Amino acid sequence: MDRGYIYVNKNNLQHNIEYLNNFTSKELCIVVKANAYGHGIDWTVRTAIESGINWFAVAALDEAILVRNLSDDIRILLLSEPSITELEKIATYNVDVTVYSEKFIDAMIISKDSYKIHLKIDTGMHRVGCSPENFDNLYDKITSSKNLSLEGICTHFPVADTDKKQTTASIQMFKNTISKINVDQLRIHADNSASNTYNNDQVFNMARVGLATYGYTISPVKALDGLKRVMEIKTRISNIQNRKKGEAVSYGKAHILEQDSLIATAPIGYGDGYPWNSFPDGKVIVKNNFCKLIGRVTMDQILFDVTGLDVNIDDEVIILGSSSDNSLSITIRDIAAWNKTIEWEILTNIKDNRLNRVEIDI
Ligand SMILES: Cc1ncc(COP(=O)(O)O)c(C=O)c1O
Repeated sequence: MDRGYIYVNKNNLQHNIEYLNNFTSKELCIVVKANAYGHGIDWTVRTAIESGINWFAVAALDEAILVRNLSDDIRILLLSEPSITELEKIATYNVDVTVYSEKFIDAMIISKDSYKIHLKIDTGMHRVGCSPENFDNLYDKITSSKNLSLEGICTHFPVADTDKKQTTASIQMFKNTISKINVDQLRIHADNSASNTYNNDQVFNMARVGLATYGYTISPVKALDGLKRVMEIKTRISNIQNRKKGEAVSYGKAHILEQDSLIATAPIGYGDGYPWNSFPDGKVIVKNNFCKLIGRVTMDQILFDVTGLDVNIDDEVIILGSSSDNSLSITIRDIAAWNKTIEWEILTNIKDNRLNRVEIDI
């Protein structure tokens, strides 16, 4: 091993898909934007297709093209309107596109191509989406056009993971907005991983699930304990040194040793997506022991305290995952907490162009 490995576990991904399919009657649309939350978009899509998944959501047209090149038979949903200059590609690559602005819809109507579209309503996120008041106008425009096929209606919740009450109000607003139209042939979708755990309203027949697919339970009301984490990150000890009490290690002299210490180095850093703010709270696992980070995370290396352990160069260092005896673990939630950020940011920053991605099937 040179630097580090990202292990992605096929059995766990397929287990999660089966588990989520058993949990909800909605069809799953797996969210694979940002390199499938760091898991590798190609691997994730191929593995999910084997599990019968037919819908994939992306944020960028380039991601949609990557996914389309893996299969002609699946549906790909672009979650926002791209630039009007990209219209031709949407048609060429047969991408379902989320729409909400009159200008974009008009540009589609006057183009020579046909499009499959999902009309998005803003029910409180206030990021993208048409206002409930403008819904009828856009709906009529779309359904009276010759080249637009309305495939779905959707919304997105701002506090699905923290506030069931507000999310329920958004659901009600959505339902009121679409109450006059016939939704029989449409995909009606709103849920992300969190709201999917409690929104049982029968009008919704598809859920756009990201984080839960990759094994992380997220809900203000119900933990999905049966999910299995798909990703582990491991590296190796690359240097070992004895340092004296009072010496500082790493940049900024941010950590002064309080005692004589054995300090190990591993070749992973913020350039690989292991975040800078992991120090001072962060730790790694070596030989079934937690080892505290010592000194600042650098671009390519971290330092940690192995005082009292019998360690050698090339010994395994667990950055994300469980110890071999399963007694200790470090989760994405832990790393996010050390860094005062969210799980999504940690995952989507992991760089599989610097760390080697290894696909395992056990
Ligand atoms: C529009 C939209 N739908 C669904 C999701 C999936 O969210 P989660 O990863 O919480 O399941 C996202 C994630 O950012 C999103 O932006």
